[in-house]
Amino acid sequence: MRAVRLHEHGAADVLNVEEIERPTPGPDELLLEVAAAGVNPVDTYFRDGSYEPVGLPFTPGVDVSGTVVETGEGVETFEAGDRVFGTGIGNGGAQGSYAEYATIPTDRVVHLPDDADLLEAGAAGVAAVTAWRALIDHADLEPAEYCLVHGGSGGVGHAAVQIAAAVSARVITTAAPEYHDRLEALGAETVLDYDRDDLADAVLEASDGGVDAILDHRLDDYLQFDADVAATGARVVGIGENSPDPGFSNDGVARSKDVTYTFMSMFNTPDLRVPLRGVAYLMETDALSIEVARSYDLESAADAQRDVMAESVFGKLVLEP
Ligand SMILES: NC(=O)c1ccc[n+]([C@@H]2O[C@H](COP(=O)([O-])OP(=O)(O)OC[C@H]3O[C@@H](n4cnc5c(N)ncnc54)[C@H](OP(=O)(O)O)[C@@H]3O)[C@@H](O)[C@H]2O)c1
Repeated sequence: MRAVRLHEHGAADVLNVEEIERPTPGPDELLLEVAAAGVNPVDTYFRDGSYEPVGLPFTPGVDVSGTVVETGEGVETFEAGDRVFGTGIGNGGAQGSYAEYATIPTDRVVHLPDDADLLEAGAAGVAAVTAWRALIDHADLEPAEYCLVHGGSGGVGHAAVQIAAAVSARVITTAAPEYHDRLEALGAETVLDYDRDDLADAVLEASDGGVDAILDHRLDDYLQFDADVAATGARVVGIGENSPDPGFSNDGVARSKDVTYTFMSMFNTPDLRVPLRGVAYLMETDALSIEVARSYDLESAADAQRDVMAESVFGKLVLEP
């Protein structure tokens, strides 16, 4: 089969397509014919060696959708021909989803609803599961609460806007002006340009004085901002930053409001099937659509990984082997 591989960590051009042997599923694993593999920032961190050591040679790709070709020993709930999607493969292993076939443990995959699109589902995993974990599990988001999603046009952001709207929270999000209409269509009550000078005032005005839950993917930019716009008792969930030195200029503001900060990794999800089933249900009921901005073939994996870090797109990039 054809698979993208890297033999050393480095820039995107270490990624090349090679002919390798098709894997066989181990106990409690599925072999999938890959339909789509979401492209995520974390794929680039595994590639450049900045996240966690991986066994080399390595095939990137954490997200997958596809059709079951073969089941490993002990598998009872899946059979050949099932359409599935999942996430969390290739995490520290040697074989991810940027390939014609991939294996995935059954505890990281769920069935795809009949009407759901394989391309969309292949792009869903990391983005939608992270948004679910942040807002549902960590922020305990409640109906009618104000929820601020920084960067609503991104992979995680656009899923978070829809998940927050699905629980009837009042969604405030930030994005470049070209994406405002689309975010309103996905359920945001207020969409603000993240570049405006009076952003904090605008968030406070839109939230009647303070937001209850915040999803922050740029903690170095917004750690203090989050405290400044928080309501008393607000929950802030941090998923990322651009430079590793976020800090408060006035942490007393956070203390004075009893703000709770949680810093999370999707890879710590105790049972990935729980949020994956939730995501599948929201897709089935049209409460969540994963926007696929662009699709790439395996030969263009390096371009896809460059683009996910450098280009502005609405939603997700995917590979289609
Ligand atoms: N902890 C976890 O488990 C976890 C899981 C998933 C992702 N992450 C991290 O979360 C981050 C986002 O991931 P992603 O997949 O959603 O990436 P993405 O699709 O590239 O989205 C990033 C978004 O940030 C927006 N943005 C740029 N400048 C901004 C600013 N000044 N203020 C607010 N938003 C701004 C971008 O908008 P423009 O297009 O307008 O530039 C884009 O919509 C990455 O750092 C990723 O590593 C962490």
